[in-house]
Amino acid sequence: MSGSEPTSQPNFVAVRQQLHAYVDFLRDLGIHDLYHRGDPKIILPEWLRSKPVMAAPLVQGKADAFRGSAQAATPAQRQVSNYPAASLAGIRVSAVRQHLPAQGFSSIGGGMGAAADGSFPRTEGSPFMAKPPSLDVLAPIPVRIVPAAERPAALQAVRAAIGECTRCPLAYAGRRHIVFADGDPNARLMFVGEGPGADEDASGVPFVGKAGQLLNNMIAAMGLKREEVYIANIVKCRPPGNRTPEFVEATTCSPFLLQQIDIVHPEVIVALGLTAASYLLGVKQSLASMRGRWQSVRGAKVMVTYHPAYLLRDPRQKAEAWKDLKLVMTEMGLTPPQRPS
Ligand code: URA
Repeated sequence: MSGSEPTSQPNFVAVRQQLHAYVDFLRDLGIHDLYHRGDPKIILPEWLRSKPVMAAPLVQGKADAFRGSAQAATPAQRQVSNYPAASLAGIRVSAVRQHLPAQGFSSIGGGMGAAADGSFPRTEGSPFMAKPPSLDVLAPIPVRIVPAAERPAALQAVRAAIGECTRCPLAYAGRRHIVFADGDPNARLMFVGEGPGADEDASGVPFVGKAGQLLNNMIAAMGLKREEVYIANIVKCRPPGNRTPEFVEATTCSPFLLQQIDIVHPEVIVALGLTAASYLLGVKQSLASMRGRWQSVRGAKVMVTYHPAYLLRDPRQKAEAWKDLKLVMTEMGLTPPQRPS
C-alpha cells in the first residue's frame, strides 16, 4: 500500500446502515424480492393501489432506475400483494405500533405488516434497533380455551388464513413451502424455533434437518415423543441463507404463532434461541440473561434455552441446555426414561 493511500478501515456500521436505508427505500417502492436474480417483482403498497393514476408512472420510473433500464415495468411485474389490513381478528395493530422506534419509519408506510392502512413497514438502520412487542400485548389472552376436540380444525383455519402468504419479503426470497407446525394440537409442551432452514423449506415440516435431529434427541431425553409436543417457529418461511429473520418479517408472522399458542394452549413453551425468546417475550436481552428462569407468555410458562443449531456448533453448551430442560421436566412432572444399564 502506498503512503498516500487511506489507511483507515471502512466504517462497517455506517455501510450497514446505508445498505438498510437502500433496502427500506426499495421496499417503500414495493420491491420486496431483493434476493432474486433478474427483474424484481413489483408489489404496489395500498397507498399506491388506491391512487392508480398517480401510482403507475411513479413506481415505474423508480423501478426502472433500480433495474438500470429504460424499459417500463410491465403490469405482470407489478404484482399486487394481498397482505390484508389487520386480517387477524383481535390483534391490536396499535399495540404493535407502540413498540416501534419513535423515529426512523417510513413517511410513506410506517407501522407493521398488518398496519390498518395496509402499508408496508420498514425498519431503520438495524433490525435490532426496535424492541419487539411481546405476544401478550398483541391481543387479549382468550378467556375461552379452545376445547381439545376443536383444536385441529382451529389450527387448520389459521393455516388457511395464512394461505400462500405474501405479507412480508420472505415470500419473495425463494420460499418453497410455508412451514406451519408439527406435532400434537393438544400438546402440553411447545417448542418455538426461529425459522425454517433448507430442509424444512423443502419438506414443509419444522425441525427436520440436523438441528431437528438434535431437537428430537432432546425431546426423547425428556421422556417424550416428538409426536407428543407441538413445534413451530417465529417465521414460517425460510430466510435466505438461513439469516436471522428481520424485525418486519418476525413481527408480521408472529401474530399467527400467537394464534397457534392460544389454540394449543400449552402449559410450557420452550423458546429455542434468542430470536424465539425475543419475539415471544418482547425483550431485547442476552440469551444468557434469560435462560434458566421461568417467564410467561399467553398464559404459558416459558423457558428459554439454546437453539439446537447453536448446540451443534458448541456442544459444550449441551449440559447448560439440559439444565433448562430439567426445569421444564420438573415443572411438568416428567421423568427421564431409564437408560439401559
Ligand atoms: N431452525 C429453526 O429455528 N427452525 C426450524 O424449523 C429448523 C431449524
